[in-house]
Amino acid sequence: MKYTAIDNSLYINNRKNFVKHLKPNSVAVFNSNDLMPTNADGLMPFRQNNDLLYLSGVDQEESILVIAPNASNPKHREILFVKETSELIAIWEGAKLDKEAATKQSGVQTICWLTDFENIFHSLVTEAEHIYLNQNEHLRAIVTVETRDGRFRKDCKAKYPDHEYERLAPIMRKLRPIKSQLEIDTIQHACNITEKGFRRLLNFVKPGVKEYEIEAELAHEFLMNRSRGFAYEPIIASGASACVLHYVDNNKECKAGDVILLDIGAEYANYASDMTRCIPVSGKFTPRQKDVYNAVLRVMKGATAMLVPGTLHNDYHDEVGRLMENELIGLGLLDKDAVANQDPKSPLYKKYFMHGTSHHMGLDVHDVEERNRPFEVGMILTVEPGIYIPEEDLGIRLENDVLITENGQLDLMGNIPLEADEIEALMA
Ligand code: GLY
Ligand code: MN
Ligand code: MN
Repeated sequence: MKYTAIDNSLYINNRKNFVKHLKPNSVAVFNSNDLMPTNADGLMPFRQNNDLLYLSGVDQEESILVIAPNASNPKHREILFVKETSELIAIWEGAKLDKEAATKQSGVQTICWLTDFENIFHSLVTEAEHIYLNQNEHLRAIVTVETRDGRFRKDCKAKYPDHEYERLAPIMRKLRPIKSQLEIDTIQHACNITEKGFRRLLNFVKPGVKEYEIEAELAHEFLMNRSRGFAYEPIIASGASACVLHYVDNNKECKAGDVILLDIGAEYANYASDMTRCIPVSGKFTPRQKDVYNAVLRVMKGATAMLVPGTLHNDYHDEVGRLMENELIGLGLLDKDAVANQDPKSPLYKKYFMHGTSHHMGLDVHDVEERNRPFEVGMILTVEPGIYIPEEDLGIRLENDVLITENGQLDLMGNIPLEADEIEALMA
């Protein structure tokens, strides 16, 4: 791993909180993600399962975490299974976790080789009534490949059909939205790397630069800072491309007079950051571009202030819609009377601002969440309003990552240039 390992107290605490949600006499199993093959003998870069990371920090393929709080053998109440390493693996792939390193990373005292899994798991199952299995239940997940968890589910249910099966996902989406200090520090670190990348761009962008050249600058800065790279496919969209919400071609030349929308976040230690900025190719916004920019910025500031404990996500988004409506009227894009008479179920602002204002962020960029749970201290959400006007070849979105605190909000991107004048000054 390029990153410095996170202190294992994070994982010890996470497991302590996790077991409170299990029924008595349970055994819970978390499988790592698979190494995905390319077409020949290659492998895609490995990305660990985030629930396994959350509870163990183990960033290695073919790992299994088993938690059985009522196991009669106290040593079996938490077990981490890792692949036994060998001289051959060491020669080809380098160091893998040995038992000592696995304990140091995770705080789990009992480390076993994967080859012992079947026997030990069988002994735990015979004592247990409930078996908890994991699945990606993200609202918008599209899962067409069978995961290790999926294969394990099939095998387990075939072998032990008469146990009570339970879902881990509802527990994980309860726990993961509340970030602990070590997580906040890590996400802040990812945000700081994003900041370095962005500041680098302000001296780099000029008419004629290609979107992919901008991407390359960012990748360089991120990797120089021990990030694996982008936390998600970066969007580097100049001119009209900014109105394509998921534009990732990043292959155009940036033209004088255009604005570039940059949705670019670095990852660090598997944690995401998620930032959007819009900058003028020539270093100066036109008056109209600045008006739209400042409208979005006012909505962003208003929305950030609404991130307070107790608010429901949907109510918050509706309130932001009211702010946006006023701005769109001010920009001459919506008619005041038409807004007054609109169908509240399909408000007119959605023509120009068609996505959500905020999402949780953490190990996943769009982190797991319980949609109907009011905001709480310790949650980190993005704030990302936008106005997209294809007929003006202009799309403006601004996005920061914000922690909800006892006294309001802590903007983890508060140091990253945001005001239009500041951006112009830095580009001059
Ligand atoms: N970069 C993805 C998002 O803003 O949600
Ligand atoms: Mn986002
Ligand atoms: Mn984003």
